[in-house]
Amino acid sequence: MSGNETRGPLTVVGAGNMGGQIAHQAALHGFTVRLYSRSEERLAAAREESSRLLRRRVEKGRLEAEACQAALERVTTTTDLGLAVRDAEVIIESVIEDREAKRAILCSIADHARDDAIIGTNSSTLPSSMFAGSIRNPERLLNVHFFNPALVMQLVEVVRGPHTDASAVERAIGFSRDIGKTPIVVEKESYGFLANRMLFIALQEAYHLAQEGFVSIDACDVAVTNALGWPMGPFELSDLIGLDVVEAILAEGHTQTGDVRWAPPPILAERTARGELGRKTGRGFRES
Ligand code: CAA
Repeated sequence: MSGNETRGPLTVVGAGNMGGQIAHQAALHGFTVRLYSRSEERLAAAREESSRLLRRRVEKGRLEAEACQAALERVTTTTDLGLAVRDAEVIIESVIEDREAKRAILCSIADHARDDAIIGTNSSTLPSSMFAGSIRNPERLLNVHFFNPALVMQLVEVVRGPHTDASAVERAIGFSRDIGKTPIVVEKESYGFLANRMLFIALQEAYHLAQEGFVSIDACDVAVTNALGWPMGPFELSDLIGLDVVEAILAEGHTQTGDVRWAPPPILAERTARGELGRKTGRGFRES
């Protein structure tokens, strides 16, 4: 944890589950942070959820009450994108995982941002080269990929695009360390980068084994936590990530690579069709 020095400014664009937690992670490490969303309700919900999580740390004796309060005060919110990004040295985009939504917001960010700001997209599946042709000064654009829950998971993947300057990669690595994360560089873009590529193949195996009746969902989770040491089994983890997010990630892999290994299986698609999306709806593979 950092002391009282102020770092930044950092802007996080998108105040969903990931954006809100990334903003508060940086604030815990002394950054002044602007959190942007189109919606005041989203901003309020993101503040509420992160302050609940940080206050729980205080109750558990893992965080000083003053450090918690200071972190919460370092995050300001806005629905004005120009205001949000114009002073930032680092901008992390974390809006919905949709190609056109990302393209539109990345174009606006690049138009309003300082020329020397780096722009990291927190996309899991859309490589930054997909947007490089559409934005101003794409040499400062790259994927800076966090994991869920972002206040807890240590890894950040910094993915070098063919258009990305070496100095942007260096700065993204430095920034990730400064906010207390463990960054790695992924030297070339490929579907799923590194950790998700490995994770989602394992999830697919679990889905197929359960779907074809080899094991129950519960037995599979018991096996993976007890044999492989994962903190959660594949089905519980899918419920945490959100079944709609998992399905979109797999479908994007199928589209990008044409490889049927990534095609979303019925055991997943039938639940998302029923609106059973995991923890956020109270039911997914399991009840929560
Ligand atoms: N959001 C934020 N913080 C959370 C949280 C959540 N949803 N759930 C738990 N935590 C925090 C707790 O507050 C607690 O914090 P402190 O230690 O500071 O008190 C800490 O996590 C540990 O929590 P618990 O002791 O209650 O529970 P746990 O030991 O079971 O840990 C977990 C919970 C961290 C989620 C753990 O089960 C875990 O690591 N699960 C695997 C997560 C994982 O694999 N994530 C990668 C997902 S893939 C991804 O992100 C892909 C993508 O791009 C879409």
